[in-house]
Amino acid sequence: DRVIPAVVAVDGPAAAGKTTTCLALAQRFGLSYLESGRTYRIIALEALRRRVSTSDRQEIVILCDDLIRESRDQDLLTSGRYGNEDLRSPAVNVAVSDVARIGEVRERVTHLVRLWAAGQERCIVEGRDIGTVVFPEALVKFYLSASAEVRARRRVDQERRGSYEDVLKDVIRRDEADMSRTVSPLVPADDAINIDTTSLTLKEVLGRMSSACAAVTLP
Ligand code: DC
Repeated sequence: DRVIPAVVAVDGPAAAGKTTTCLALAQRFGLSYLESGRTYRIIALEALRRRVSTSDRQEIVILCDDLIRESRDQDLLTSGRYGNEDLRSPAVNVAVSDVARIGEVRERVTHLVRLWAAGQERCIVEGRDIGTVVFPEALVKFYLSASAEVRARRRVDQERRGSYEDVLKDVIRRDEADMSRTVSPLVPADDAINIDTTSLTLKEVLGRMSSACAAVTLP
């Protein structure tokens, strides 16, 4: 579980631009990319489908183990069985915060992410606790943030789904849930490079991130 490959960790609140920047860096530096939020979303979606209450810790942990068994560990991270349309629905956005609060679920997801990473030569992983908990020894850590208003605006422009007001409400709710949970709350790692993207262009953000990645020798 503790074989540590070359990892770039990207954390930050919802809609801070993690996925867009990770994909660009993955391409540029030849890194395998993993979106850890996807696994939490798959668990939340399956809970909704199987009518398991997301506030029932014990049942959610049992569901999580069932899913891991059914998917033989690694597939749960990347399974193509789930479409983005389903995984990013407003209902999953709400349910996923409940699921991500459960310590036993976080332990399992952390284990799966480490297992996946151990099979990669070099990778970039996005989430909320990658630099703090999953890979404290990551080569480079970024913490991306921006004002809630700017994040909501960008999300609406990008996805063309939902009103600005609804998306803003969801962003603020998820910030609160991510930052206030007792297990692995969202905080920048002490050694993370903090980038407030509120008044930066994507090109500027990528410029800063690329320089930091280029400065470490990715083996
Ligand atoms: O990155 P995302 O918005 O798709 O993540 C969905 C949810 O999963 C997010 O609201 C919080 C949770 N999450 C987490 O708790 N830890 C991670 N490493 C990744 C996601």
